[in-house]
Amino acid sequence: MKLSTKHLLGIKDLTKEDIQLILSTAEQFKEVLQRPVKKVPSLRDITIVNLFYENSTRTRMSFELAERRLSADVLNFTASSSSAAKGETLLDTVNNILSMKVDMVVMRHSASGAPHFLAKHIPAAIVNAGDGINEHPTQALLDAFSMREKLGKLEGLKVAIIGDIMHSRVALSNMYLLRKMGAEILVVGPPTLIPKYISEALGVRVTYNLQEALKWCDVANVLRIQLERQNQPLFSSLREYNLAYGIKRKMLENLGKDIVIMHPGPINRGVELDSDVADGPYSIILNQVENGVAVRMAALYLLAGRES
Ligand code: CP
Repeated sequence: MKLSTKHLLGIKDLTKEDIQLILSTAEQFKEVLQRPVKKVPSLRDITIVNLFYENSTRTRMSFELAERRLSADVLNFTASSSSAAKGETLLDTVNNILSMKVDMVVMRHSASGAPHFLAKHIPAAIVNAGDGINEHPTQALLDAFSMREKLGKLEGLKVAIIGDIMHSRVALSNMYLLRKMGAEILVVGPPTLIPKYISEALGVRVTYNLQEALKWCDVANVLRIQLERQNQPLFSSLREYNLAYGIKRKMLENLGKDIVIMHPGPINRGVELDSDVADGPYSIILNQVENGVAVRMAALYLLAGRES
């Protein structure tokens, strides 16, 4: 089976079958990653550039590891130490890189739509590694993989997405994906951090009450407060945010049921999550990071035109 798309720009553009194909291919790569030799020759004829115009720890390292595990040749580009800092345009930069015979571009950019712009102007396959407040498709895929691995299904799963919904590309990609796969979604946070028409636009329920959400859900996907994307204060203080929406261990123990806690990272400890939740028995945060490599291997393998 093959993907219906040449690029991975967002979950919005994927079919349910594309998502199922990436997740099932990722299962095969997860098995590869358990072996003593965690490498396959699948992409040894492919060169990939990781083009990061915005900071990253997990996504960047995970893509690079995925590429190397697939035996691709890898180039790394960091905007701050490149000629972009001297004013070179995105298109000039990418065309120069492509003239060195690069086949695929993995890109993170602070501008929403930057990878879509590139996809219109260059022949290489583009993978969106996070664009502004728009989408972070491989994060949603690894989140879905991790939920399915932990709870056995996506269809009918009750997922609460908690926090800064307004500025979160992880939230948007998760909402698109979980809706396509038949999960139920409740978004939770202060009214100033939840877009007004989200229910109508995306078919999700909204609550401003954290306790209600925790009682209802099987999975709580907790988001980082993204102060760097907020132009003006949208809540009174981080301390008050923590009092109203921070997840504490006692809260989870008092639920009297199983619940899975997820977070895409980086965590603001003591703001959206207390440390004994992030590092405790309800959390699968490091499993998410582990699964990211297999999921990105699957996405790159399929985008290179390989069949599963
Ligand atoms: N989850 C995520 O995108 O983390 P980084 O910003 O560290 O890549």
